[in-house]
This record gives sequence, structure tokens and C-alpha cells, in this order.
Amino acid sequence: MCGIIGILSNKEVGNSLIDGLSRLEYRGYDSAGIATINQNTINRCRAAGKLQALKDLVEKNPLSGSVGIGHTRWATHGSPTKRNAHPHATDRVAVVHNGIIENYQILKEALISQEVAFQSETDTEVVVHLIEQELQLGKSIEIAVVESIAKLEGAFALAIIFKDNPDILIGTRRGSPLVLGIKEDELFLGSDAWSLAPWTQKICYLEEGDTVIMCRGSNFTYKIYDANNQLVNRDIKQLNLATGAASKGGYSHFMLKEIFEQPQTLSDTLLSLVDEHNKTIRNELPIDFTNKNLRIRLIACGSSYYACLMAKYWFEKTARILCEVDLASEFRYRDPVLNSDDTCLFVSQSGETTDTLAALNLAKNMGCLTVAIVNVPESSMARSAHQHILTMAGPEIGVASTKAFTSQLMVLNVLSLYAASARKIIDNHTIAEHITELLHIPNFISQVLQNISEFDQLGQRLSQARDALFIGRGTNYPVALEGALKLKEISYIHAEAYAAGELKHGPIALVDSATPLIAIAPNDSWFEKTASNIQEVATRGAPVFVLTDNQEFNVKSCEFRSIYLPKAGTVANCFIYTCAVQCIAYYTALHKGTDVDQPRNLAKSVTVE
Ligand code: M6R
Repeated sequence: MCGIIGILSNKEVGNSLIDGLSRLEYRGYDSAGIATINQNTINRCRAAGKLQALKDLVEKNPLSGSVGIGHTRWATHGSPTKRNAHPHATDRVAVVHNGIIENYQILKEALISQEVAFQSETDTEVVVHLIEQELQLGKSIEIAVVESIAKLEGAFALAIIFKDNPDILIGTRRGSPLVLGIKEDELFLGSDAWSLAPWTQKICYLEEGDTVIMCRGSNFTYKIYDANNQLVNRDIKQLNLATGAASKGGYSHFMLKEIFEQPQTLSDTLLSLVDEHNKTIRNELPIDFTNKNLRIRLIACGSSYYACLMAKYWFEKTARILCEVDLASEFRYRDPVLNSDDTCLFVSQSGETTDTLAALNLAKNMGCLTVAIVNVPESSMARSAHQHILTMAGPEIGVASTKAFTSQLMVLNVLSLYAASARKIIDNHTIAEHITELLHIPNFISQVLQNISEFDQLGQRLSQARDALFIGRGTNYPVALEGALKLKEISYIHAEAYAAGELKHGPIALVDSATPLIAIAPNDSWFEKTASNIQEVATRGAPVFVLTDNQEFNVKSCEFRSIYLPKAGTVANCFIYTCAVQCIAYYTALHKGTDVDQPRNLAKSVTVE
């Protein structure tokens, strides 16, 4: 989603703005732009498409100035054109925005009725005109901003510069993330700390409703006002983030690299939670599962939601705890029944997903214990929840989640084990056995990846399909869902996943010779049932591709192929088969020639609802 950079410096900032934007590219975007103030004018450069297009323009016509703002735009209101790209500007003020101004239509109509001319189709443009109007009334910059943002509804992080005062940069946030970076002789704004890391690791996370006024005088100073316009002090953190540009390390795509990192990331995540020698769970997990009335609510979006669906099987089977799973975007608006015995787990790779964050705040306000399971330690969810648990996946650059997803599964599985132990449902011996199975998972994943050429062949075949069906039962069902989502995201092939037992209730009508079936069918307690469902589909003429560890399995079909995966326990299978569907999606996209790491229309961090 949109990314923001702001710099107030003594040096030229044009190239640095673009450099900062390059560290926000991972969020997904479709146009980019920068603006600086120089010699009493606002200079802007904007381009549709990738950052390279903007770089090329700036190389030809450098933008001078020591204060500036930059933006990568993920289009919401108005197509991804140069005209709609940020910064938006009047003669005196330029603004970049992440979020959505929900009441922009009403504001726009009012402005148009006052003869204000709009240049773009964006919601953001109302913000510049509102500030411009206040400035025209002779108000100070600070008052003009405060009074303008008071009129906005929705979510926003804004960075604002002013033609008549190149010594000031203002940032403000409500709903969308924004951080302040501090150096003795420069101040920065960024959508995340990582984008600022090469410049400074002294970071202040602006809180909901905060406005920061950054000034250049004989030295660099800033003031932060809270949502009530009271001057406040916010903590400054000294971070220790890697500063090197993310590298593909010899792999053709970040996604492939991240798939291959899973043996390591799964091991890191597991060992942060368990003692591998004693085969015990480290007693540092932040939930008291002994409360007999406890209910678990798992809330997330996208792949993280599928991780929650998987966890429901584990919490209910292993720990016998009632567990409900919700899509954050539904949960937050359906007036859910919650009580103080509910523990709400919010699962998010980025820790910034707007819907999940809003659901978290809702549950917190209703008195529930909130626990965020996130991959980014300083993310909004980590900071907002009562407690958080980290997945140790490291930065994930590919838009399609792979290693972050499997690390979420690992945390959730250990948590279910911990819950079962706290409730005395399983004894130490069973816990040790379970941990032993988990400790083998990295090795199983390595075995899957040793035979990656099989996925390459299957990917080539699937790249010719327009539609695909995935099926699985039990914990193989969330794997099927994840497989279908991965395939859709990066190869743009229409794919749906069904619990295998549901096929006969409608989806079997979709079966034909052009619609391949991918079955997640390890030889587990659900195998015989799934095998019958596969047979039913094969009989109706579909090409059938089965992921299994059962070498005996065969069906008569127009086209049949099995990919054999390592024999393992039911829990390890969740990881093994997930890795397999990731590889299938990757190679299908590769053969189709789509943009694997930055698929069209998608964003890594979904900061609008
Ligand atoms: O950062 P989050 O885990 O909260 O993101 C949720 C979804 O947007 C995310 O999982 C999305 O579905 C991915 N593109 C999946 O590959």
C-alpha cells in the first residue's frame, strides 16, 4: 500500500527521497512521486508505474531543495496515472497521503462550490485544498493543518510541506502508520522504520492522532501534539535494524528465496518457544490458559486468516478449547459478542493490516486480553496489543506470504500445545513427543525442496489452466485454501479451495476436463475419505494432481499425476504440504511470466480497509 517519506535537511533531498521510496517498494504500489521546495516554489515529479520511471525523470530534471516528501501510491480513488500520483499540491502546499479520506466526496463538493479546481480523481486532493484555504485566511501553518485534518474522516498518514516555509515539515497520522526519524542535523518521516534505517535508527512511533511539527533553525527540533492538540513527549527508540538493501541472494525471486529460507525460519521460530534439549515449552508465553471459561478468538486477514483456521483444529483437538476464527474485516463491523474471559489472538505478518488492527482495538476496548502474533517487532499491532509473540521469519519481501505464514503456523501450534499442557490435558511425555515432531519439520521442508523440479513440471502444466480446484480435509483444508490463494495471487489463475466433503454440495458442478484438481492428500486419518472425493472428480473428467505420501494411490482419469512428499505426522504435514503448494504457485507463475514478487494490484502491507 502507499508509502510515505519526508526529509528535512541541510542537504539536497531529491535523491534521498527516491532512495527512501525504494525501501517502501515491497509494500506494493503503482505510481510514485516526490516534491521539494526550492526558491519559493514547489517542485514536483511524478510517474505512473515502477519507481524506475520516476528515477529516470529525476535524473533528467533533478529536483533541488533541502525539504521534501515522497510517495509510492497504491491506487484506491482514481486509476494509477501520473495525474493521480502523489504529491498533490496547490501553489503553497504539497501533501502525500497513505489511507482513505472517507468523507472526501462531501468535502470535494463543498470545495468545488467555492470554485476550487481539482486536478486529480483522488480522495487526497481535498487535503491540500483544505489546508490552502486555511492558509489563505491568514492562519498559521500549524493551525491550518490542525483545522483541516479535523474535517477529515477515515484513515490517514500525511506528510506536508509549505512553499512559504521550507524550514517546516509536518507529519500527522490517524489509522495509518507514520514514524519520525531523528538525527542531529536531519529529521525524517517514514511509513515504517525500515525505510529510514540507513539514515537513522533513532525512531519515534507516532501514536494515533499525533501531529509532529519538524523545524529547521540553527538546529533541528520537533514538537508532537496528541489527538487533543496537547504537547506530548513520545518515547524515542534506538533500533537495530539491518540497513543493507534486501537481496535475492542468488535466487531468481524473493519469493523463491523466502520459500528456501523456511527450514531456518521455522527452526528459529520454534526455538524461540521451546527448549530443544528438554523438549519443553519455554514458560514465557503470555496467556493464562487455565481459566476454564476461556474462549479463544483468532482474527486475521488473507493467509494469516488461513493460519488461524489451521490453529482452530489444533486448539480444539489438542487443548479442547472452544476457538472461533474470524476475518478481521467482518469481525470489526458485526458487533461481536465478546467477554472478559475471551482471549483474542490477532495474527499478522506485517502487524499493520488496517482491519486486523481495528479489530484488535475493538477487542481491547471490550475488555478482552489481546495478543498479537506478528513478524515485525515494532509494528502497530505489537505496540497496541496487551502482549505479543514474534514469528521469527525475518523480513519478507515477496508480496505472497510464504515463510511468514509457516512461522505463524509454528507459533500457533506451540501455543495450542502450551494450552493443552496448562489445562493438564496432555502429560510431559506427550509434549516431548509433539516437540520432537516439530523439531523434524525443518528437515522435512528441506527434503521437499530437494525435489523442487517436480513442482516446476507441474507448474508448467498448470500455467495453461484458466481455473483450478484445490481440496483437502481436516488440517489439509486450510492448506488447500492457502494453495489456491497463492496460485491466484501470483499466477492470476482463478483457483478455489474446498473442504473435500463439500464438493458434492455444489462445487463438483465446476468439474470439467479444463479444470485441474489439486488434492492435498497425505495418508492420514482423512485419507480414505479424500481419496473417494478425488475419485469422484476424476470420474467426471478432470485432470487430477495429488500431493501425497501414499505411493499406492492411483485413480483412472484423463490425466493423473502424484507428487510424493515425505511421510510425517499430521502436524508436520501441515508445513510440508504448505511448502509444496507454495512451490506449485511459484512455478506456475514463473511459466506464465507474471510478476512473482510484486503481483498486480496487491500490496504487502494492507493499510486501507
Ligand atoms: O500482514 P498480514 O499478515 O496482516 O496480511 C494479511 C493479508 O493481507 C496477507 O496474508 C495476504 O493475503 C498475502 N498477500 C498472502 O500471500
